Amino acid sequence: MDKSKEEPAVVIALDIGSSHSGYAYQFRGDFTDKTGVIHVSRNWNTYNETFKTSSCLLLERKTQMRIVIGENAEMRYSRICDEGKQFDFLFFKKFKMILYREDFRINDNTKNQAEDYTGEHVPFTLVMSKFIGGLLEHCYKKLEIYDEQKAKAKAEGTEQAQKIDDTNIRWVITVPAIWNDVAKGAMRKSAIDAGIRSDQLILALEPEAAALYRMSLSSQERFRMNKLGNVGSKFMVVDMGGGTIDITAVEVLEKDQLKQIMAAHGGPWGAQRINDAFSQLVTEVFKTKDGSPFASCTRADLFKMEIEFERQKVGLRGNLEPDEEYIKLPLPEKVWKELKEVIIKDEDNKYAHYFEKTEDGLYFKPNIISEKLFGESLQVIMTYLQSIIRTENAQIVLVGGFAESGIVKDKFAEVFPSRSINVPGNPFYAVLKGADLYGQDPDILKSRISRFTYVPDVCVPFNPAEDPSEKKMVNSTGRILCKDVFSIHVRSNQVVFLNEEQPAQAYNPLEKDQKQMRCDIYQTESVEPKYVTDAGCEKIVVILIEMPDVTGGTNRKVEVTMIYGGTELRVKCVDETTGKEFKTSINYH
Ligand SMILES: Nc1ncnc2c1ncn2[C@@H]1O[C@H](COP(=O)(O)OP(=O)(O)OP(=O)(O)O)[C@@H](O)[C@H]1O
Ligand SMILES: [Mg+2]
Repeated sequence: MDKSKEEPAVVIALDIGSSHSGYAYQFRGDFTDKTGVIHVSRNWNTYNETFKTSSCLLLERKTQMRIVIGENAEMRYSRICDEGKQFDFLFFKKFKMILYREDFRINDNTKNQAEDYTGEHVPFTLVMSKFIGGLLEHCYKKLEIYDEQKAKAKAEGTEQAQKIDDTNIRWVITVPAIWNDVAKGAMRKSAIDAGIRSDQLILALEPEAAALYRMSLSSQERFRMNKLGNVGSKFMVVDMGGGTIDITAVEVLEKDQLKQIMAAHGGPWGAQRINDAFSQLVTEVFKTKDGSPFASCTRADLFKMEIEFERQKVGLRGNLEPDEEYIKLPLPEKVWKELKEVIIKDEDNKYAHYFEKTEDGLYFKPNIISEKLFGESLQVIMTYLQSIIRTENAQIVLVGGFAESGIVKDKFAEVFPSRSINVPGNPFYAVLKGADLYGQDPDILKSRISRFTYVPDVCVPFNPAEDPSEKKMVNSTGRILCKDVFSIHVRSNQVVFLNEEQPAQAYNPLEKDQKQMRCDIYQTESVEPKYVTDAGCEKIVVILIEMPDVTGGTNRKVEVTMIYGGTELRVKCVDETTGKEFKTSINYH
């Protein structure tokens, strides 16, 4: 039985970010009672209390057994590096970004590899499934604790105990909306390899989940956020993550349902770019005739500097007196010695005024942070947003960890002075909570803007003035036809109401005695495609329609209807002579 259609006892959402990951869970009762309690993962490490942990994985090299994930993996690996034992282990970080590569292929070992910090290559789905396994382990422990508490409450007669059978869970995994199907497929495969049953798993699009998050906010907070959620209000959600910026825009309908009013957009301009810009700058500043003093750094040295930079970066507030905002980077002894020899004069180096060498490390002045690091990264995002923002009067809602930054909020206010800019109390876990709500009701989104044009291929009368000769074919009655032609059912960028049938289209068999018709469904991003052999057009499913009664000859009809659902595209074909239905669904999430 397809579990994805049944009501789950609990919905558990996993948000596996390029930089941070976590999970949230909500019991069905808390959803239907509208108490709205959504629990977010905690207790990731002993150092500080966070809702998500860093997306890092430590494996034993020989056995590829998981040792630990998250910040604990980072800490552990740092000690391993100090002891010089890094070749006994495999350490992965930022591995999700591999899925943005256009040429990523799940089953091709030259195109699916994640790289560990010592340069070892391992298939991405193995790394991701081990990481998901770590999240699941933490999650199960947490739910058991929760169960115990419930059991205790029941014993005391105050509450019902909640028994969670793992076949009664609906799992939701979030993915960037702009990913292609290969990338989504890789996440699905990794989750299944980690032990999640396919029919209990749905994928949620990150910016859509972020848009749903507003439903979990208290009425006071919605009010504070400019009455976010009033029927008719429109808002653009910008999920500012570590790896990507994901954007969509929605309008609020009756009964808290949403209608997408702008297709998903985005790109790889997340907060990690600031770290990358910093490493690049450091390398550039200290480049000398003999190379960079950082060249003597081991991966372990760089790793520690990276952690320290990140720690200080997230501590920047953006609204303090400029002189209070600086980054001081401690350096490995050998680099420090070499740096002391490097004398950089203003006239030789255009970046010299950005930093100072002090006894305890490199001191990066405030102007480097605002102008060079945040300034340049944010400019790319602002230019992009200005080019896509169409909906007049839509408010902007910022979520994601990067939206915690005061510098980011100030920049939005400066670039979009006439729009209301809102950041919810905890933007870091917005996607997680929203994904949970999506799992409770995948139909909550009433309409989407289709990213693709969906079509079966058909044969039409051949037009010698337009159709290329290789498309010409002749059927057994001598009719000259053109094959591979698109018959558009859903067009890219079209608004589609979820679960509503798209207008049906009827097709005749080519031959009088044809007892089976094959319906190949394709997708393409092109709005006006011509032939299914055009570049960018991909076959997604094939349906075979039995047509045993041939009395109508070529006048028989097969009616094809497409239904766009919350998580799947359904295709229904009916042989009108027999009335028999042939259905299939394409799980595009
Ligand atoms: N105060 C801050 N200033 C700047 N950046 C911050 C701040 N707080 C968090 N970040 C950045 O936010 C990122 C984490 O945010 P989030 O968890 O939303 O990303 P993610 O979900 O892992 O990434 P993605 O959605 O792109 O896959 C990190 O890169 C972190 O550096
Ligand atoms: Mg994210």
